[in-house]
Amino acid sequence: MAIIEIEALTYRYPHTSQPALRDLSLQIEPGEFVAIVGANGAGKSTLCYTLTGFVPHFFQGELSGRVYVAGLETKDHPLEDIVLVSGLVFQNPFNQISGAKFTVYDEIAFGLENLGVPREDMPARIERAMALTGITDMAERSPYALSGGQQQRVALASMLVMEPQVLVLDEPTSQLDPLGSREVFAVIRELSREGMTVVMAEHKLEWVAQFADRVLVLAGGQLVLSGPPAEVLTSPLLETYHIGQTRYTTVARRLQAENGWPAGQPLPVTLEEAEAGFRIALLK
Ligand SMILES: Nc1ncnc2c1ncn2[C@@H]1O[C@H](COP(=O)(O)OP(=O)(O)OP(=O)(O)O)[C@@H](O)[C@H]1O
Ligand SMILES: [Mg+2]
Repeated sequence: MAIIEIEALTYRYPHTSQPALRDLSLQIEPGEFVAIVGANGAGKSTLCYTLTGFVPHFFQGELSGRVYVAGLETKDHPLEDIVLVSGLVFQNPFNQISGAKFTVYDEIAFGLENLGVPREDMPARIERAMALTGITDMAERSPYALSGGQQQRVALASMLVMEPQVLVLDEPTSQLDPLGSREVFAVIRELSREGMTVVMAEHKLEWVAQFADRVLVLAGGQLVLSGPPAEVLTSPLLETYHIGQTRYTTVARRLQAENGWPAGQPLPVTLEEAEAGFRIALLK
């Protein structure tokens, strides 16, 4: 059975006239790594909130259709039950900080205390989460005294420590430099390989191409495309939805216009695919 199942979801925030998500249906299988792309305002964050119960429980508003996460219909279960199975890393890491704790270590422990994890099991879990996200040396610092990128790592650690079945990440590397982003994506991919279901809103298409099993495209609150990265990220429709393309696709398209890209060779979205196409072109 799908771990996430959405049927004909339409959702409107309070005091707004247009729905932020419209007639959206979607299934995600356990262990899938799904990326959500779309222009600003397309509904990526709103879908992330929906998959973790913040819509409708925190944001209120008007929801029709059905959303099941790990078998729970979200509108019929309180947020505190949903967060046990589906954890959200917020787009703005500042929103993740509890405000109740003075050190990074205690901040990460906070979620576990609420989960009712036995005290003796906590240190090992907290240390693993800190090691995975590269923040071990920040354990005693105040969560407020960190840079945006460091806060983003803390936000990720405080979700990982909960070991949710579904990890939802809303642009988790927006404040990180390229090296930091690479490290964070590598951790997320590793967890996905270990079986965690991952849903990630992300603008960085080259990372999406490299890591995701499937890409969803949102436009105006509707799910307009869904499929493997190589197919979705080379779709001529992306331009219509104000979404860019990877550098690899850009170069190959330019060459294609001058008959410099091998006929029948799919357009690339990763470095490896680009290299394969260039090799064929050079051998001609
Ligand atoms: N709390 C809110 N109250 C009312 N409307 C909202 C709220 N949050 C988002 N919206 C509206 O819902 C729509 C979808 O917004 P959302 O934040 O989900 O888009 P997004 O794809 O995450 O955009 P971005 O790339 O800027 O993060 C937009 O029209 C936005 O103005
Ligand atoms: Mg957003």
